[in-house]
Amino acid sequence: MDKNSKGLAGITVDETKISKVIPETSELLYRGYPVAELVEKCSFEEVVYLLWEGELPSSSQLKDFQKHERKKRPYLDKELNFLLKSLREAHPMDAIRTLISYWGAKGYVWDQNTEERKQKAIRFLAAAPVFVSAHYRLRNKLQPIPPDNNLSYSENFLKMCFNEEPSKDMVEIFDKTMILYAEHGFNASTFSARVIASTTSDVGSAITGAIGALKGPLHGGANERVMEMMKEIKKPSRAEAYLLKALKKKEKVMGFGHRVYRDQDSRVPSMEKCAHKLSEIKSNTMWMEMYDILVSTMKREKNICPNVDLPAGPVYYLMGFDIDMFTPFFVMSRIAGWSAHIIEQGENNRIIRPLSEYVGHTKRSVP
Ligand code: ACO
Repeated sequence: MDKNSKGLAGITVDETKISKVIPETSELLYRGYPVAELVEKCSFEEVVYLLWEGELPSSSQLKDFQKHERKKRPYLDKELNFLLKSLREAHPMDAIRTLISYWGAKGYVWDQNTEERKQKAIRFLAAAPVFVSAHYRLRNKLQPIPPDNNLSYSENFLKMCFNEEPSKDMVEIFDKTMILYAEHGFNASTFSARVIASTTSDVGSAITGAIGALKGPLHGGANERVMEMMKEIKKPSRAEAYLLKALKKKEKVMGFGHRVYRDQDSRVPSMEKCAHKLSEIKSNTMWMEMYDILVSTMKREKNICPNVDLPAGPVYYLMGFDIDMFTPFFVMSRIAGWSAHIIEQGENNRIIRPLSEYVGHTKRSVP
C-alpha cells in the first residue's frame, strides 16, 4: 500500500457532477457556480434546489419548492415531544442524530428511485431545524416554538429558537452560513452517506450515518472547538502565545488546515464577511481581533490557512447560540449536500467496497 494514500488521500473513488474545487484558484463550485457568488445572490432554498436538480430554480419552481419544504415541517406531536424531552441532557449532535433516525423510521417506506429519494430528502431538510430548535429550547427550560409556514427556512429557524421575529441582517447572515456549509465533495460525512447509499439502503440511514461522521472534531465538530478555544484564550493579546504553545506541543489547532485546500479555503472570505458584519452589529470586535492574530500567527509559523470553521465559530457565537449547537447547524445545511450525493449514488450505483492491506499474523493454528 502507498502510505501517502492513507485516509484515501489523493484517491479518486468516483465521478460527481455536484461540486468541485478548482485546483489552481481553490474556488469551490456548486454545479459550476462559485459559492462566493451564490452566497451573494441566492437564498439557501435556491441553493438546495440547485444541488438536487442541477439547475437554479425559476421563480415558480422556487415557489413550489418552498411550499413543499414548508408543508413538510413537522408538527411536534406527543411522540416527538416525548423523544425530545428524553434527549434533553444529550449533546445536540447526538440528539439530532437520534431524531433524524427516528424520523426516518416513522412512516417508513423504502426509497427505490430518484423521485422517492428526493421526497425523503425534503422531509429531513424540513425536519432538522424543527428538531434542533426544539431541543435547544427544551434544554434551556423553554417551550418549543412551532414552525411558521409563512417564513423562509432561516427566518423560521431563528424564530423557533428565539421566539421573536429575527432581524433582516440575522436572517441574511444565517442563510449565508447555510449556503457555505451545504456541500463539499467527498468529505468524510458525505463519503459515509455514499457508502451507506451504495448498499441501496435508504436516505434516512445514509443521513443518520453521515451525522455520526460529521460529529468528529477533525470534521464538523471543529466549529464548536474553535469557539471553545477562543473562549479559553479570553482576549486577543493572549492569542499568539496560546497558539505558539499549542504548536510546540504538536497539537492540531481547530479551524486550520484542510485535506483539499493547501492554501485558502474558498469559503473563508464569505464567512469572514459575515463575522465582521455581526461584530459591527453587536459592537463586539474582540473575537475577530483574536481571529486575525490566530490567522497571521498560524500563517507565519506553519504556513497553514484557516478553514471555514474558524470564522463560523464567532459568527454563531455572536448570534447568541449555545456553542454545542454549531455542529447541528452544519447538519441542517449539509443535509442538502448529503442528499444530492445519495441521489447521485443511486442513479449510477456500484457498492463501495475498498480493500485493505493485511499486516497481521500469518496463518497459524489454534493451540
Ligand atoms: N494544526 C496544526 N497543524 C496542522 C493542522 C492544524 N489544524 N492541520 C494540519 N497540520 C499539519 C499537520 O500536523 C501535518 O504536519 P506534518 O507534516 O509536520 O506532520 C500537516 O499539516 C498535514 O496535516 P494532516 O493532518 O496530515 O492533513 P490531513 O489532510 O490528514 O487533515 C485536517 C486535514 C483533518 C482538516 C487537519 O488539517 C486538521 O486536523 N485540522 C483541524 C481540525 C479542523 O479544523 N477540521 C475542520 C476541517 S474543515 C470541515 O470539516 C468543514
